[in-house]
Amino acid sequence: MLAPLMSSPQPQHNPRMSQGGKLSFRSRVQDLEDDPGDRLVIGGDDPPNLDELVPDHFDEVEIEVGPGKGAYLIAATEAKPDTFLLGIEAAMGYASLAATRLKETGRANGAFLVDNGKLFLRDRVAAGALAAVHVYFPDPWPKRRHRGRRFFTEDVPGTLARAIRDDGYCLIATDNAGYAGQIARVMGNSDLFERDEDEEQRRIELGPGHAFTPTNFERKYIEQGRIIRRYAFRRLPDERS
Ligand SMILES: C[S@@+](CC[C@H](N)C(=O)[O-])C[C@H]1O[C@@H](n2cnc3c(N)ncnc32)[C@H](O)[C@@H]1O
Repeated sequence: MLAPLMSSPQPQHNPRMSQGGKLSFRSRVQDLEDDPGDRLVIGGDDPPNLDELVPDHFDEVEIEVGPGKGAYLIAATEAKPDTFLLGIEAAMGYASLAATRLKETGRANGAFLVDNGKLFLRDRVAAGALAAVHVYFPDPWPKRRHRGRRFFTEDVPGTLARAIRDDGYCLIATDNAGYAGQIARVMGNSDLFERDEDEEQRRIELGPGHAFTPTNFERKYIEQGRIIRRYAFRRLPDERS
C-alpha cells in the first residue's frame, strides 16, 4: 500500500529544499483545492524511503526528478503498466496538480512526492533500486550565483550511480545549450556512466511515456522552435561504494 499523505503542509523553512540555494517554487499553482488522494505524499523534513512508497509487487521502479505538472510521468504509467513511477517535485502546487491528474486516470502504478530530488536519491533510495531516473528540462538557473542549484552538479553522477542498477539509465532532456554542455561534461566525464545514442533513438521510437516525451516544457519549446537535446546515459556495471 502507498503511504498515506504525510503530515501537514511543508514548514516554511525546510532545509531539504535549500541545498545549494533555495529551489524554485511555482506560485501560480498553489491553491491545493484539487483532490490528489493517495497519489500525493508530502515529504516535509523527514520524507519516507522509496520502499515505503512502492507497493511490494513492483520489481521495476523509476524516478522522475522535477516532473512539474506530471505529463511525462502520467504518460509513463500508461506506457509501462508493470513499472512504478515516482515523481519527486519540489513545488507543492505542481505536485498536487500532477497527483490529481494521475488519480483521475485510475492507475495505481505512480505517485508524486514533494521533496528535493537530489537529496531523495542520496538518502532515501537503496543502492541499485532504480531501473531509470528521468530529468526533463531541469531548471537552468542562468545566473552565475545560482549555478549551485542546478541538478547536474559534479556530485550527481555518484548520486545517480548509487541509486541506478547496473545497465539502468539516466534520461535527460534540455533546451538550454549551456546547461546541455554542463550535463554532457559532468555525465560524460564520469566513469560510472556512458552515453548510449542507440538507446536514445530506441526510446524515442517507442513513443510517449518511454522516455523524453511528453512534457509541458517540451511542448512549449517545440512551439518556439528551440533545439532540444536528449541524452540516455547507461549506468556502467561496477563495484558499488
Ligand atoms: C523547468 S520545470 C520542468 C518541468 C517538467 N519536467 C517539464 O518538462 O514540463 C523544472 C521543475 O523541476 C522542479 N525542481 C527543480 N529542482 C528540483 C529538485 N532538486 N527536486 C525536485 N524538483 C525540482 C521545479 O519545481 C520544476 O517543477
